[in-house]
Amino acid sequence: MPALIQTAMKIYATIKETEDALSPYRNGKRSIGFVPTMGALHRGHLSLVTRSKSENDVTVCSIFVNPTQFNSPSDLEKYPRTIDDDMQMLASAGCDILFAPSVDEMYRKGDYSTINEDFGILDKVMEGKSRPGHFAGMLTIVNKLFCIIKPDNAYFGKKDFQQLVLIRHFVHTHHLPVIIKACPIVREDDGLAMSSRNRLLSAEERSNASIIPQTLFKIKSMWGEKTSAELKEFVKDRFNMVSPLKLDYFEIVNAETLEPVKDKASGKSAVACIAAFSGDVRLIDNISLTEQV
Ligand code: PAJ
Repeated sequence: MPALIQTAMKIYATIKETEDALSPYRNGKRSIGFVPTMGALHRGHLSLVTRSKSENDVTVCSIFVNPTQFNSPSDLEKYPRTIDDDMQMLASAGCDILFAPSVDEMYRKGDYSTINEDFGILDKVMEGKSRPGHFAGMLTIVNKLFCIIKPDNAYFGKKDFQQLVLIRHFVHTHHLPVIIKACPIVREDDGLAMSSRNRLLSAEERSNASIIPQTLFKIKSMWGEKTSAELKEFVKDRFNMVSPLKLDYFEIVNAETLEPVKDKASGKSAVACIAAFSGDVRLIDNISLTEQV
């Protein structure tokens, strides 16, 4: 007989129900861990849930495909939505509360205005250059979610490295009472970083996509022997000659300021960041050149 999955996970679509469910924890001074997502969950997302469970009294996950952080209506439309599977996965991972609101619940009265602040270069380089408005939309929804959940700890993946830098900056400058926890990138067997967008790849595109992590691992092994400029040329050539993927950008940046790092001697905390298109699907990845992992 198949084992019954015992799940106590509560699922709410409204802010009011979610706040009501969390108030006993808040009043009882028990810690709230929060994992915001856009669904189409995979093991990368679940690693954040597992970490939150190990560090908090209650773990809340949100699933909301946030329209204001997409650059084109077609990208928003084709974003994978797998809510039934997601609920199963979250229940099995031991998530306590799933908040899955509608667009109207999050953008009340059809007000889609987004945060308009000066983040210096943080939202202008790399993803910011390729996806204008993306980070304003992302920070708008993360801020709204923080206002609703009021978590003690919030968990984000290093997979979206620039997103993490901006969230940290935003929390710091706005004195938000939440601790941001950065979690390692979970990868497939061939090194490809797990991503909801991977399921949009054809079998051939999926197999070719491993050039992204392979390139990053190679860059890490060459850091110290070559300058950033030389490594950029190396990556450009590699994508032009051997890969059907189209390189969007490759940069080596300081892990906090996102300023370019010229070489190993001039950068304490350098991260190599890459974005490439496989057909229509845009994939991003990164690797720390200065940390072990
Ligand atoms: P989403 O792409 O669903 O990712 C949710 C969280 O999972 C992010 O913190 C992301 O960095 C993390 N994540 C994704 N793939 C991962 C992997 N392979 N290993 C480790 N962590 C991984 O990022 C977003 O949603 C949205 O921008 C959001 C923050 C929810 C705001 O809408």
